[in-house]
Amino acid sequence: MVLNAETISQQSLPKHVAIIMDGNGRWAQSRNRPRTYGHKKGVDAVRNSVQFCKNLGIESLTLFAFSSENWRRPEDEVTTLMGLFLFVLTKEVKKLHKSNVKLTVIGDLSRFPSSLQERINAAHQLTSENTGLQLNVAANYGGRWDIAQAAQKLATQVAEGSLAPEEITEDEISKHLTMANQSELDLLIRTGGDYRISNFLLWQAAYAELYFTDTLWPDFNDEAFSEAIACFVSRERRFGCTGDQIKQLLAASKTTS
Ligand code: IPE
Ligand code: IPE
Ligand code: MG
Repeated sequence: MVLNAETISQQSLPKHVAIIMDGNGRWAQSRNRPRTYGHKKGVDAVRNSVQFCKNLGIESLTLFAFSSENWRRPEDEVTTLMGLFLFVLTKEVKKLHKSNVKLTVIGDLSRFPSSLQERINAAHQLTSENTGLQLNVAANYGGRWDIAQAAQKLATQVAEGSLAPEEITEDEISKHLTMANQSELDLLIRTGGDYRISNFLLWQAAYAELYFTDTLWPDFNDEAFSEAIACFVSRERRFGCTGDQIKQLLAASKTTS
C-alpha cells in the first residue's frame, strides 16, 4: 500500500475486516450440548456480522469458516460442518444477492463434495456483479496454501517464458492470491480467547491490526463487534514510520480535504 495523506485520512474505519470465528465447540460444551450445536448457533452470529458490516459501510468481510487443518477433526463433526455449509449456502444466497452482497468462497474447493462445489459456483455466478459488501468465506483455506498456489501460477508463467524470475515481486505475488484486487486487510479479529492466527491470512495480515477477544463466536453480537471497531479506530497505524510522521500526514490530509 502506498502511504500518503489520502490513505491515512481514510483510515478511521476499517475497509476490510477478517474474523477467525472460534469458540463454537466450547460454547456448546459449556451448555452440555454437542459441539455441532455450537456450529449451528454460530451461523446466527455470521448472519448478524454480515448485517453489521452492511450497516456500517464496511467494504469487505472475510470469515474463516473451515481451515485446511480442520479435516483432522472427528469425521462426524466434519460431516456436520459440510452439511451446514451446504444448507446455509442454499438458504442464504438469494437473500445475500437481494441485499447486493458479492459472495466469494476462498480456499482449495477441490476437496469438497461436488454438490457443494456446484452450489459455490452458482453463488459466485449469481452475486458476481453485486456492488455492496464483498463477503469472503474461507473454506478449506490455509494462508500457506494461498501463497503456495500463487507461487505455482507464477512458476508456470516462468516455465512458459512469459515472466522473468526477477519480475516476481511482492505486488506480483499479491495479484495471484485468492483475494487479489480487494482492499488491504485492516483488522483481523479472533474470538474464542486464543492468541494465534491458525494459518489464516498470513500474507494479508502483514500490517493488519490484530484484535483478540475472549467472547465465543456464537456470543459475538453487535456490541462485541462495535468494541472491536472502536479499538481499531483508537489505534495509530504507523506502517514503519514514526508517530510524528503519521501526525504530520494526518494534519496534511486535513488541510487538503
Ligand atoms: C470454530 O469453532 C469453528 C470451526 C473451526 C469450524 P471451534 O469448533 O474451533 O470451537 P472451539 O474452539 O473448539 O470451542
Ligand atoms: C481456526 O480455529 C479455524 C476457524 C475458525 C475456521 P481452530 O479452532 O481450528 O484453530 P486452532 O486449532 O485452535 O488453532
Ligand atoms: Mg477452535
